[in-house]
Amino acid sequence: MRPVLTEHSQVVSMSNLENATVGSHPGKPVPPREVLFDFEGLFEFNPQPMWIFDLETLAFLEVNDAAIGHYGFSRDEFLHMTIKDIRPVLEVPRLLGHLERTVDNPRPYTSCWRHQKKDGTVIDSEVTWLKVVFSGRPAKVAIASDVTERKRTEAQSGYHSFLLATITDAVVACDVDFVLTGWNPAAETTYGWKAAEVLGRPAADFIVEDAACDWNERIRELVEKGRMCVEATHVRRNGARLRVEARATALTAASGDRVGYVSVNRDITERRRSEDVVRALLKQVVGAQEEERRRVARELHDDAAQTLAALLVKLRAVEEAGSVATAAANDLRVHVARALDGVQRIAKGLRPPALDDMGLAEALDRLGMDLAETHGLRVDTLAQLGEQRLPATVETTLYRIAQEALANVRKHACAKTVSIVIRRAPARVVLIIEDDGQGFDADRNTSTEHLGLLGMRERAALLGGTLLVESTPGSGTRIRVGIPAEGNP
Ligand SMILES: Nc1ncnc2c1ncn2[C@@H]1O[C@H](COP(=O)(O)OP(=O)(O)OP(=O)(O)O)[C@@H](O)[C@H]1O
Ligand SMILES: [Mg+2]
Repeated sequence: MRPVLTEHSQVVSMSNLENATVGSHPGKPVPPREVLFDFEGLFEFNPQPMWIFDLETLAFLEVNDAAIGHYGFSRDEFLHMTIKDIRPVLEVPRLLGHLERTVDNPRPYTSCWRHQKKDGTVIDSEVTWLKVVFSGRPAKVAIASDVTERKRTEAQSGYHSFLLATITDAVVACDVDFVLTGWNPAAETTYGWKAAEVLGRPAADFIVEDAACDWNERIRELVEKGRMCVEATHVRRNGARLRVEARATALTAASGDRVGYVSVNRDITERRRSEDVVRALLKQVVGAQEEERRRVARELHDDAAQTLAALLVKLRAVEEAGSVATAAANDLRVHVARALDGVQRIAKGLRPPALDDMGLAEALDRLGMDLAETHGLRVDTLAQLGEQRLPATVETTLYRIAQEALANVRKHACAKTVSIVIRRAPARVVLIIEDDGQGFDADRNTSTEHLGLLGMRERAALLGGTLLVESTPGSGTRIRVGIPAEGNP
């Protein structure tokens, strides 16, 4: 059956459907209209899904091939369904309310609905409805248009615009010639240029790196690798410098062609500044602590140790005089000798005299010998530092790191052999301490209760150096420290 809309039994096409249907003016009675079966193919062959449904029972009275193809129900299935059956259940109350409100509306109008296909897929449909009479019954003819993709795109672009507007990082986009195509509000505040001033103009005019950076090198990397992640210093419109962490990536069209680049630039000026402050404070604390240790060690050595040593000599004299006090003096001498040992050990631990008097190589050698003597380990020390002494802070830092590393060997490693190697490379000093002990999982050691490794790393970082811990359970531990030899006091 091919439906045809007629007015007063006259065949009309869809194009004058409205006239045919409306034909009335408010107040005038709507003349009876009948949908017959021709329609010049506009119903049957319409590429948009169409159907006619009974206004009272809501049953489908007729559907076209496009509706069958799009919704997946057969004609027979459709004709046993109502228009409620092509909707998610939650949509039905809205449908019923809508029909009640519009039952007398003779004009065609369009509204948006959620429809459900036979396979369960829910789609967004824009439906134009027109009230007609079909086989003598009040009915509506509907023409539906699937707008799911459009809605999704709208939702996505809304999501993207929201993100771009609210994100606190500058998001900058450009085409393959590095002409700016995107500049979000955060880019405006970060760089001081308004989007309207920069869009369509070369990115290099507005993303200005300070002289130390090679912009062309950066661009070459981005073009070649398709991505780039750098920390750079950029210059704001007002000339102020800001430290930026930039992550850029190439944009590719569906065809696979490269269409441009987008970069997310995070202003980390404040973060870096506070890190610098913390580092400077830490440096002061470490320096002051070292100075205090040196002072106490010197006082212990010069004052307490000297006094005890003098006492020892005098006690020996009393002993030799052979008086009655000999036994008591002998006894006293043993106590004083023990106290002197203790004081000297404390003084050495606080600040080994070898470090100040003979330099790092000798101090490390003595550290190794102490470990060998007290714990029966074999310790090999190799130092190639040349004639010239290293800066005092470098010596102290490397010594303290070695001290902690060897303390760890003593406490945790169960090792038989330890090697301490220190070399002076052209620009850095490298210290490697390696043991053949039980090792540990260096990647998982992030606990905040154990501060030894953390302190070693922080000491190295304070002088612009690095510390690498290589260890796996069962295969010993290797600590490698590199510190710039120059530029430290
Ligand atoms: N040479 C080593 N051999 C085996 N395990 C080690 C070695 N060095 C470190 N570890 C492991 O790494 C952990 C962390 O070491 P770290 O020096 O940070 O802390 P700690 O020695 O336990 O405590 P402290 O804060 O007193 O130094 C140790 O508890 C130990 O399990
Ligand atoms: Mg430790």
